[in-house]
Amino acid sequence: MIDLHCHILAALDDGPKVIEESVAMARVAAEHGVSAIAATPHVLESQAVTVNRARIEQALAQLRERLRAEGLGLELLLGAEYFLSLDFPHLVAKHFPLASLAGTRYVLVELPLTHLPPFLEYSSFKSGLHDENLVRELPLLRPVIAHPERYLEVARSLQNAERIRALGYLLQLNLGSFAGLYGRGIRKTAEKMVKAGLADLVASDGHSASSLKEILVEGTKRLRKVAGEKKAQLLLQENPARVLKGQALESLEDCA
Ligand SMILES: [Fe+2]
Repeated sequence: MIDLHCHILAALDDGPKVIEESVAMARVAAEHGVSAIAATPHVLESQAVTVNRARIEQALAQLRERLRAEGLGLELLLGAEYFLSLDFPHLVAKHFPLASLAGTRYVLVELPLTHLPPFLEYSSFKSGLHDENLVRELPLLRPVIAHPERYLEVARSLQNAERIRALGYLLQLNLGSFAGLYGRGIRKTAEKMVKAGLADLVASDGHSASSLKEILVEGTKRLRKVAGEKKAQLLLQENPARVLKGQALESLEDCA
């Protein structure tokens, strides 16, 4: 597995508090077949710690050093989970240059759990952005929506997931949803989404070593059962590998 959503960096968000817990998470991941992790701390409006790309890179370098010293061969990649409280172009403008997934054109974003914001439909040219770099790069960026199965309106109707995907967002489901980590309702929504082809990626969204173990063991087992080996492989390994190469993703419908 290549895990493109994991709160493994210490003292930046609600993930591990100290670097020893980060090392414990890396050990669990490596022991359960994870070859690479994108470290994706939350970037929120109101946060005790200011999390920006420079700070994430600093924490990444520190943890890489520790993993090397511990003899852990796990690859650690750049990332962040941006809370989408503005439309995507404005989010990009505010945080430019973003901590995109492994520095590629894919950017992980999360939405409020209770409602889908009205500004999901966006046009890079309507939003009055003047920075030249931004205007050039924005159309190339691909937002990846974290855990859509946890959003109330998606649970209510899968048409909302279809609509989000049709607007150009990719859908990254949580492996923990298949393990029942967020309850039976969310597990059911996640399973229905996979069966309907409404998933592009699956990631751990791990926050601690103990929950990560359960997510990886139970989540993978259930996902394989629901989706079949080939589709599970596409979501957990092949599409994440394409993200790292900056390539377009394969959809579940094309995966026989
Ligand atoms: Fe997350």
